[in-house]
Amino acid sequence: MLNIYENLNIQLQNALARAFPEIQGNTHTYSEFDPQLVPASKPEFGDFQVNCALKLSKFLRQPPRDIATAIITQLELNKEFLKICESPKIAGPGFINLTIKKQCLIQEISRRLTDKRLGVPLAVSKKNKQSNAPVIIDFSSPNIAKEMHVGHLRSTIIGDSLSRILEFRGYVVLRLNHVGDWGTQFGMLISHLKEVAPEALSTANAVNIGDLVTFYRQAKQRFDEDKVFRSTSRNEVIKLQSGDPIALKAWNLLCAQSRKEFEEIYNRLDIRLIERGESFYNPYLEGVITDLNSLELLVIDDGAKCVFLKDKLGKDGKACPVIVQKSDGGFNYSTTDLAAIRYRFNPAPVGDGAQRVIYVTDAGQANHFAGVFEIAKRAKWIPDDCRIEHVPFGLVQGDDGKKLKTRSGNTVRLRDLLDEAVERAESDLRLRLKEEGRKETDSFIKHVSSTIGIAAVKYADLSQNRVTNYQFNFERMLALQGNTAPYLLYALVRIAGITRKGGQLDTQTNNLQFQLAQEWSLIKAILKFDDVIVEVEEELLPNRLCSYLFELSQIFNRFYDQVPVLKAEEPNRSCRLALCKLTACTLKQGMSLLGIPTLERM
Ligand code: ARG
Repeated sequence: MLNIYENLNIQLQNALARAFPEIQGNTHTYSEFDPQLVPASKPEFGDFQVNCALKLSKFLRQPPRDIATAIITQLELNKEFLKICESPKIAGPGFINLTIKKQCLIQEISRRLTDKRLGVPLAVSKKNKQSNAPVIIDFSSPNIAKEMHVGHLRSTIIGDSLSRILEFRGYVVLRLNHVGDWGTQFGMLISHLKEVAPEALSTANAVNIGDLVTFYRQAKQRFDEDKVFRSTSRNEVIKLQSGDPIALKAWNLLCAQSRKEFEEIYNRLDIRLIERGESFYNPYLEGVITDLNSLELLVIDDGAKCVFLKDKLGKDGKACPVIVQKSDGGFNYSTTDLAAIRYRFNPAPVGDGAQRVIYVTDAGQANHFAGVFEIAKRAKWIPDDCRIEHVPFGLVQGDDGKKLKTRSGNTVRLRDLLDEAVERAESDLRLRLKEEGRKETDSFIKHVSSTIGIAAVKYADLSQNRVTNYQFNFERMLALQGNTAPYLLYALVRIAGITRKGGQLDTQTNNLQFQLAQEWSLIKAILKFDDVIVEVEEELLPNRLCSYLFELSQIFNRFYDQVPVLKAEEPNRSCRLALCKLTACTLKQGMSLLGIPTLERM
């Protein structure tokens, strides 16, 4: 109900100004003065609540309840206000409770029935004039020749959902895959492969990704144990970085091999990303050092070039250094991220000219990002009207609360994990079909189980507050009851069933009328959709959207169980069908913003 909120807010500001002209000329002007209008804390208090009387009481030297009364008197003189709201009530020490008129809610429902955006406005860009300045979401970002693990899966799912939400709000979103495709690991991998599997360095598809991961492990072990191997590896990195064609060809082949594995996962999840790996910023690394140097931010510490942070002290109470160039002259993860920040905020053509940059990684990288953000701010690489944010998430754990492992103790391969989700969804489905005595085709069963399986994995991840660790559990995520993907999908299937039973959902959009409490709670739930989307855009917490969709489904199910729809008399029948339609559209849109396709039958 964003537009109702905006409208009320303006009316309140005007009422305040008329009731207390003395506020003017103080720190606040009329239009800036905040009535502190918030959603009601409980449904019995109405829809909104005005909290400003308490704060104003000190300044005006009047009891808060008197202030509230004065505001209400002004509000009630206003015809516009009386069209939207029932008469305001004072509560407690001086809160004002507001209840929106039913007619006004009905109007809103009518409007949404014909609005493809379901009441969600397009965002007005914060960065003046450049409304098409992109928002960059840096997510997924696995590493070449290493396993793409459950942490990357979380980043992929959360990053995709945030991208979809911002895209829906009208932003140009650059979905960047900051793949780990550069650095010392390639030196060791290439040196090792030269000895044990040289064909991998010259022929495409000579090894598969599983082998590559094993080779990588062996190489790492040799690197840690063997001095000679260490120095050959370092030479190999230098060759690669100086553009040696053989090393470059080998590097390209290794990247292509890993990329194949990543793509398979992205395709199964229906997620698009633009690959722009660490290597992209290679030409800009020197510039980072030169700039930091001329800004006098660099300190040589133990041979390495560092920037000492101001914002955060280390455990020993001393300033923490961020190394930007190692003593051997090499650059690292932080240097690359600094170059990336600079590039991303720089205007085109030598940059992306972004207005907001968002990083989705595990919480373990929080210090890294705090460090590079601080340096980039001190170097003035982030324009004042732009935002940079780390969106951290917790670990994925097994049922034992420990790192997710297979039964044999190995790390879980993502492909296997998705396969298992789909297989389990299939056996649940077959069981249910048998119980219900239904016969369905194989292609129906395959389609439904793969939709449910993938949806369950995504939803389980998104519905958790991302900051906390989360326990991965197939049974829980596939359950038909509770805050799960199958529960939400099922609510939609029920609505689709109404159409099949002859209910035309979209005949009526005007002259709607409602009487029952179940209808009104469904109406209020539907109308919250826009508030939730805008909130998620701001706080980057997709779990809020999940909780909303879950609540909406529950309220819908209660409505549908308790109120006759198809058997109701007109005009109730059409009005209720209209609510079913709007519920379905809202759920579908919400699910699609989570990256979850829906089903007509399941
Ligand atoms: N490749 C990194 C990892 O696997 C994640 C990169 C995140 N993005 C960034 N700009 N640092 O942990």
